[in-house]
Amino acid sequence: MRLLKNFSFRRARLSDYYAVTQKLRIVRNDWDYLPGVYNEFVASPGRMGFVALNGNSEIVGAHFGIIVDNGQTLCKRAARVKENLQGQGIFTRLSEVMDEEVRRHGMIKWEVKTCAWANAERVRNGYIQRANFKELYAMESYDMYLKVSDILPVRETSFSNIRPMTHQDLWNIFNDEGICEKFFPRGRVPSFWVPLRPVEDNLKHLINCRTHIFMSCKSHAKFDPDSKPLGTIKASDISMMSLLFCYTTESGFVYNTDLHGQDFSDLESHLKFHLHRLQNVGHESVRWTIMFDSSHKDVIEERIGHCLKEYGVSLTQKVKSKQDVYFEKML
Ligand SMILES: CC(C)(COP(=O)(O)OP(=O)(O)OC[C@H]1O[C@@H](n2cnc3c(N)ncnc32)[C@H](O)[C@@H]1OP(=O)(O)O)[C@@H](O)C(=O)NCCC(=O)NCCS
Repeated sequence: MRLLKNFSFRRARLSDYYAVTQKLRIVRNDWDYLPGVYNEFVASPGRMGFVALNGNSEIVGAHFGIIVDNGQTLCKRAARVKENLQGQGIFTRLSEVMDEEVRRHGMIKWEVKTCAWANAERVRNGYIQRANFKELYAMESYDMYLKVSDILPVRETSFSNIRPMTHQDLWNIFNDEGICEKFFPRGRVPSFWVPLRPVEDNLKHLINCRTHIFMSCKSHAKFDPDSKPLGTIKASDISMMSLLFCYTTESGFVYNTDLHGQDFSDLESHLKFHLHRLQNVGHESVRWTIMFDSSHKDVIEERIGHCLKEYGVSLTQKVKSKQDVYFEKML
């Protein structure tokens, strides 16, 4: 590894927006999420960005972090280094600079990161041993690039058992260890590629203006809008949840759905609900990403494909990005 003496490192600023999201365009993909969330990543509480500069003060690398789990976990994400400078340790140094900054908070116990399949393979082959990471779990990931007007209409009655969850509904699940384990057997609730622990502080990361969770109930406890107001559903009655997070990109709207279940009897209702919803997001060009724990693949993949086909959508999984892999290390 070459010496990094020609580079300097500092906190990312709002004014670096163009340099980071446009000039440092290494993700060859107009569906990149960073332009849509850059300001949030740089200036929201508990979030931070760092940039690397060359001798001419041009930004050549960037890396971001978010502190979750009651201030105990740092999730590192959105790393990018200018193509002709990769492999020289710039990313590694950006990561160290972030560590130095968060060490001052003194409370951070864990570091987590999520890599798409291609990077995860690279990380698995060496880096995780050196850096002492362990693999938490993998999620299957399916990307469908859709023209919304091509999707066949979905009848609203086909998903009348789906309701948005409140913080209280989710908190009821987190508070019941047995049920929480059934939904999230890895002990983490992934949202926007951050593996969150089921703690109260994370409710705000799971249900907010960008992210939502929808639930369905076991048949004996079907929602009855007349007699059962929202919020009275018992955690044990919930059969399935779908987590949603969205953002806009230069190419269109990205609509991500993560599926979690105790049983998957309501799978089709959730899919139809999201199909209907994405027909009404106000964008013609949509990338719909469906994700679920890889251990469910044999149980639900075929059913998802079959259900989407009815509406003219084919379930597609790219080899390069077929899984998102979540890693964690104790600091
Ligand atoms: C990934 C990237 C940021 C690495 O930057 P870099 O300056 O070349 O990296 P370094 O020289 O410091 O070395 C990277 C080391 O960190 C490891 N690593 C740790 N976390 C990683 C991650 N999230 N992604 C890729 N590599 C990672 C690599 O395995 C590598 O070790 P290795 O050489 O033993 O494989 C750069 O290649 C890049 O911009 N790629 C395109 C964008 C991208 O894929 N970003 C990652 C999103 S998860």
